[in-house]
Amino acid sequence: MGKIANESTSKTGVVLILLILGLGFEIESVEGRNILAVEFFGSKSHVITYLPLLEELARKGDKVTLLSPTKGLSKHPNITEIFTFGSDEIWSDNNIDLFAMRERNEEINPWTMLTQVVPKYCREVYDRADVKALYATDFDLILIQPLFNDCALGLVHKIMSKNGKSKTPLVLFSPTSAPNFLVEKLGGNHPSSFVSNTFINLGDDMTFSERFLNFGMNVLFDGLYSFYYLPVMEELYREKVGSDAPGAGEILGRASMILSNGHFSVSRPKPNLPDVVDVGGIHSRKAKPLPKDLEDFISSGNSDAGFILFSLGTYLRSDLMSPEKRAIFLNVFSRLKQKVIWKYETDDIPNLPKNVLLSKWLPQQDLLGHGKIRLFMTHCGGGGTEEAIFHGVPLLGMPFFGDQPLNAQAAEKHGYLVRLDWNDLTEESLTNAINEAINNPKYRENVQRLSTVFRDQIDNPLDRGVFWLEYVMRHKG
Ligand SMILES: *[C@@H]1O[C@H](CO)[C@@H](O)[C@H](O)[C@H]1NC(C)=O
Repeated sequence: MGKIANESTSKTGVVLILLILGLGFEIESVEGRNILAVEFFGSKSHVITYLPLLEELARKGDKVTLLSPTKGLSKHPNITEIFTFGSDEIWSDNNIDLFAMRERNEEINPWTMLTQVVPKYCREVYDRADVKALYATDFDLILIQPLFNDCALGLVHKIMSKNGKSKTPLVLFSPTSAPNFLVEKLGGNHPSSFVSNTFINLGDDMTFSERFLNFGMNVLFDGLYSFYYLPVMEELYREKVGSDAPGAGEILGRASMILSNGHFSVSRPKPNLPDVVDVGGIHSRKAKPLPKDLEDFISSGNSDAGFILFSLGTYLRSDLMSPEKRAIFLNVFSRLKQKVIWKYETDDIPNLPKNVLLSKWLPQQDLLGHGKIRLFMTHCGGGGTEEAIFHGVPLLGMPFFGDQPLNAQAAEKHGYLVRLDWNDLTEESLTNAINEAINNPKYRENVQRLSTVFRDQIDNPLDRGVFWLEYVMRHKG
């Protein structure tokens, strides 16, 4: 009896091994696909949200070409980056000083920026030889970051429709929870009654007048988007790839699906169709050990007080802020018992307090995930705000432009951010804000509760994203 059982177990074993080998073989055999990721215009914090997807596919042996507005993000040998144009180039060409604008209470008018400034740079991308060479390549998948990248749709169309009827599959990656104006392109709809317009962030429990305002915002936004912004983009790409190229809505509508960098714990539940898959948390990962100099700095002296991470991101260069503002930071930092690690673009400033360390490059996630971090002082970019949720770190938010004020507002609603307006920055207001965020335990408790829910997922958002991209490639759309 026992013997028979053993034999059948070993037979099952052999069958299992054969199955696993067979599966392995099948997985091997689909490798080496050609993938194109497209983002003409955007920020580093967008690219870092989908880069882990591309790196995972590259690791499996796929060849990835990334048209990107950020230089040198990936060192992976199977990823070829083609730099489009950086926003810092746009700021400097057009004499835009983000700190000074904020101090004069001026906003960047996004519509003017998108229809009058950006097109020039987009045209230049189309004219480049390395970009034109892409038309001759056969791709198995195109992934595009679609938010305000409509000028890139001519290129997407040309590559998609190259092989006649068998169109190259297209997937949209939304670096924030996919907004209504995007899901609409794939047949979805977010009702004005309970899903807030992305640009006003009213939450999902609106009063009657808020719903009315929300409806108005949706109508106003759709109007500007469809009748003012998109026609400029369509004219631009038709000039470059031919007047027969379809409208932006039609090209986006050909996408098989949207990967949406949202999660209901953070971006509220939304009525989406099955072709919108949430991958919120996709780029967040556990902290790795810090480089020795940073670890030594953190663990020196009174290490129990912990440390503060201060970064204004890529576009707001800390070395370009006014000397008055810099002095406020340095004076306040010098009186703290915490250490401060400041992302700063030059090597040294005179009379730097002993408890402050400057660095051009910082492993942000490894610092946010460090046991001794007490506070993250940030401009509230999308990537950094999500990483702070993942690692459960309270924020002191100083938002500037774009989606930053909205991210700050959402974090404030969740109760883990103390806001400090750049124009209200004084030694007193900064000291109070830091003390409140560190010493009042509610901020830390709120973000840690959110972090637990955000991380409690049935599977890993990166695996989920990779699965769906491979699914779309397997079934060609
Ligand atoms: C790059 O792709 C090849 C197959 O094309 C694969 O064998 C190799 O492991 C990949 N490289 C890395 C560093 O993952």
